[in-house]
Amino acid sequence: MIFDHLLVEKEEFIATVTINRPKKLNALNLQLLEEIHHLFKDLQADKNVRVIILTGSGDKAFVAGADISEFSSFDSTQGQELARKGQSLVFDFIANMTKPVIAAINGFSLGGGLELALSCHLRVAATHAKMGLPETSLGVIPGYGGTQRLAQLIGRGRATELILTGEMISAEKALAYGLVSAIVPQDELDLLAKKIAGKIKNNSPNALSHALQSIADGYTFDKNGYASEIDHFGACFGHPEFIEGTTAFMEKRKANF
Ligand code: COA
Repeated sequence: MIFDHLLVEKEEFIATVTINRPKKLNALNLQLLEEIHHLFKDLQADKNVRVIILTGSGDKAFVAGADISEFSSFDSTQGQELARKGQSLVFDFIANMTKPVIAAINGFSLGGGLELALSCHLRVAATHAKMGLPETSLGVIPGYGGTQRLAQLIGRGRATELILTGEMISAEKALAYGLVSAIVPQDELDLLAKKIAGKIKNNSPNALSHALQSIADGYTFDKNGYASEIDHFGACFGHPEFIEGTTAFMEKRKANF
């Protein structure tokens, strides 16, 4: 597939994906959702990729939301279909990936843009970034998982306030809320994301995958996270990476996965 709005760079097991639709502040239209789905599917299957960084082009926007011009004339059925398709193609897809995805939030992360960051496993932001779910100001609600994932991450009270007010918050406030794990000036954001990715990529890809699945299961209504942890813990044993990791420890050397 040819990607009109995505750039991808791969270096030492780290793939950096840049959403590149700057004239529309990287707003997510249907084409972009399809592109993200296909690219992330490829990255999931690529043995030379262990960690993915997702960011936006320029320093103004990560993603300023779903493309409002595309859905403004939709009826209720089309609206439902949009949310269903978006959730399955991109938002749930990324959240359920077995390789870690880090959102490097380089500016406005609004509506579908914040929901995209919430689907990632980790989030860091530039100090000038602004985050919010302004959908109620447009007469709609978040439809790409925002009502659920924001509440899971920062608590129901704070999430409800942000959704009902539609207020944008600063990176500092997002840090205080635990919405992002670190903030740095824009020119250090790439470096920070790569530093975190660099620490992750040296660990066992098999263990990373089981850890992500176990964490995700705890937030899935019909699964028992503790039971899932037991299964995923057990599944690591006997794997060549487990043998390498434990042997390396006993031989007082660094594991080579
Ligand atoms: N959907 C479609 N187009 C969008 C968009 C979106 N979510 N966000 C920005 N754009 C477009 C603008 O329409 C404009 O296009 P134009 O130059 O063809 O008119 C371009 O991106 C630049 O945005 P602009 O509004 O001129 O920039 P700004 O600096 O004045 O304001 C924002 C920046 C982010 C505050 C403002 O663009 C905004 O409020 N965007 C919508 C945010 C939103 O409600 N998102 C949730 C959607 S569900």
